[in-house]
Order: sequence, then C-alpha cells, then structure tokens
Amino acid sequence: MFRNSRADFPKEFLFGTATSAYQIEGHGFGGAGPTHWDSFAATPGNVVRAEHGQRACDHYHRYAEDLDLAAAAGFDCYRFSTSWARVMPEGRGAPNPEGLDFYDRLTDAMLERGLKPCVTLYHWELPQALADLGGWRNGEIAKWFGDYTEVIMSRIGDRMYSAAPINEPWCVGWLSHFLGHHAPGLRDIRATARAMHHVMLAHGTAIQVMRALGMGNLGGVFNLEWATPADDSAAAQQAAARYDAIYNGFFLGGAFHGRYPDLALEGLEPHLPQGWQDDFATITAPVDWCGINYYTRKRIAPDTGPWPHYAEVDGPLPKTQMGWEIYPQGLYDFLTRTAREYTGDLPLLVTENGMANADVVTDGTVQDAARVAFVDDHLDALRRAIAKGVPVQGYFLWSLLDNYEWALGYEKRFGLVHVDFDTLKRTPKASYHALQSALSDASN
Ligand code: FCB
Repeated sequence: MFRNSRADFPKEFLFGTATSAYQIEGHGFGGAGPTHWDSFAATPGNVVRAEHGQRACDHYHRYAEDLDLAAAAGFDCYRFSTSWARVMPEGRGAPNPEGLDFYDRLTDAMLERGLKPCVTLYHWELPQALADLGGWRNGEIAKWFGDYTEVIMSRIGDRMYSAAPINEPWCVGWLSHFLGHHAPGLRDIRATARAMHHVMLAHGTAIQVMRALGMGNLGGVFNLEWATPADDSAAAQQAAARYDAIYNGFFLGGAFHGRYPDLALEGLEPHLPQGWQDDFATITAPVDWCGINYYTRKRIAPDTGPWPHYAEVDGPLPKTQMGWEIYPQGLYDFLTRTAREYTGDLPLLVTENGMANADVVTDGTVQDAARVAFVDDHLDALRRAIAKGVPVQGYFLWSLLDNYEWALGYEKRFGLVHVDFDTLKRTPKASYHALQSALSDASN
C-alpha cells in the first residue's frame, strides 16, 4: 500500500510511466538500422553477458498489451521514445516506412486508451552510420538531429501531448565519452567536451524545428545527481561543487542561462569546438517545461589525480539493486533549487524516478515492497516541494516494464511489471497493484 494517493496532489497533477525505444522495442524488428549500442554490446567487457536490444521486451509486437497495462494502472501519461535508427536506418536520408508506421500506430494506441503521448526523440540509440562519422563529436549532428526531428514529428507531432529532444544530456556526453560506461564507450576529454556541447546544440535545434512545425508543450529532460561533500573540508566542498557543475550545472546552465559554469569550463574549455559561445542563441531556444530525472546522490571527495580532481566515495544510506543510495531529500533539493536558480515559474516535471530491485517471484506473484517505499518517499519529497510553491506538475515512474538496463543488461529490474525474458510473459508486480489503487483514489 502507498501512503500517497492521487488525492494528495493538485487536481491537474499528471502521473505517468516512462520507457525508451531501445530498452523495450526489439531493434531486430521492423527495419531498424544498426545502432552504436549494438556494436558496443558486441564488444566483450562492455555489457553484462554482452546482452543487447535486438529482442528486448518485444514491445514492437506486444505494444497493445503493454499500453493496456499502462492504462489499467491509472496513468495519465505515457513517456516513450522514438528510435532515430528505426525512423532513419542510416541516420540521414531515406526514412523507414515501417518505422514511421509503427510510431503512428503506437501513438494512436495511446490515444485510444486515454494515455497522453509524451515523446522523447533521443534515448541513446544513435544510428551506427552516424557513429561512424564521429557521432556526438561531429558538429554536424545538430543538423542531422534536426532533420530526423522533422521527419518523425511531421508524422506524429500533431498528436503529441509533450515532446523533449534528448534524454539525459549528461549520459550522452560525460557517461558515454569520459567514463566510457555507455556507447560509444570513449574515455577522452576532447570527445567529451564536444559531445556535451553538441548535445545541447542538438537540443536547441530540435526545439526550433518542433516550434516551426507548430508543436507546443516542449521541454528538456535532464538527469540530476546531488553531490554531497564527503566531509566538511574546503577541499571536499570544492570537489563536490565541481562534480555538481559538470553533472548538473553544465546542462541546466546551458539551456536556461546560456552559459556553462566556470568549474566545468576549467577542464573542458580547451576542448570545446571553435565558436561554441555563438551556439547559445540556439541552445537557449525557449522551452515550456523542464524535466528532471532523479535517482540518487553521490558523496564526493577531493582526489589528487588529473582534472576533475574528485572521487566518489561509498555512502552510508540503504542502496537499491544498482548500488545507488536512496536519498529522497535530493529530489526536494533539486526541485526547489532548479526553480530558484534556473527555471523560475516554468513547470517542472519529474520525468523519471524509480528503483531496480531484487524482486521476489513466487507462484505467479512478484513482491517488491521496497519499490513501493521508494516511490512513496520520493512522492513525499515532491509534495514538500509543491508545498513550498515549486510548480511541479507531474511525476513519471521509471519504468513500466523490466527492460534492457544498458551496460547492466537484463539483470537490473526497474519495472512495475515483471518480464520473463525467456517467455516474455508480463506479470504486474505488487507495486503495480498498489499504484493502481493509489491512482484511482481521487477523493479530494
Ligand atoms: C536513466 C535512463 C533510463 C534508465 C534509468 C534507470 O538514466 O534514462 O534509460 O536506464 O536511468
């Protein structure tokens, strides 16, 4: 049972669930082109058991059943993503008619069930043909992304409730090019700086393209991670501030203030592409809302190694199956701080929050009490932010289904619905049933 219910939130507050294309659809179907995740996963050591998204949850064929589950849970919104490689297998040039038809069917299937379609245009499956040209390192990518945006939104944009260009710019930039944890698996500061900047330029370009198509309710989706200094020393404070600047400030600062923080430029500026300052006119293209994906915090200590001179240290809080500390206060802190420092009166949405859990499967039921507690605690934090006057207008749970958790393969389960990856059978977990009753309680 949830403590929170729909009745505890403002009347217009939206509840949704989120998924992404490569994680659920099955990229082996329907004429999708190869992506950099396929090559990354095929390289030993990158992904647990070298698992990939060729079949995933087979949502491509089972979307009707999946959307039935989302609707029956009582959600208002369904956040999904379109795959660039499914729409344009080569990343540029001829679209794949089967791909366009699929997203058309999917959109109508949401509307038929009363789910508001909330689209994201890029959730990480870069077409391999573009990766071959340098991917996010190549400044041309903003234009390629704009063209892709135009193709897919000319087909489904008329029926979208909301749209955001890019899921989690930090992951596309830093996680994938500096830490090397995600495709393309680079560990290169120059590639990182360029990818971080180009992803912001692509964001602004796509916003402009969608405005020109007459679309509204456009936003950006940023993953934010709270940085707690490991101790009281000035050095630890500085290290945490640098972590915060790279992780959070770079992207929010770029989109909402038209500048990058000094503590991030300190290491990245020499590697940014020529004329980068001139791109802010595009990067700051006005949006209608700001999405925050929030999962955890990190404890940060100074480190004597090269820039960025910090290290993550283990924290004392209970952890999820991902090993991430559970820290709902961080959600409150980010909602209040984002409004105060970046977005003012602009609506905020929590576009992802949730946990991977070692769910217990017995006799056809799936027990996941920890997930209910996690979501409830974060909803409490969200309500505290609303009570402080922060304009938070929605909450999306990651995720509807257990799915392909990137470098961790199919092992980490984030779903409200359990997926048996041998039979592909869907079984709603205890959290799903609890949420269903919480969302049906609108007695305020
Ligand atoms: C987010 C991603 C999503 C999923 C969750 C756990 O960073 O957007 O695809 O992997 O984390």
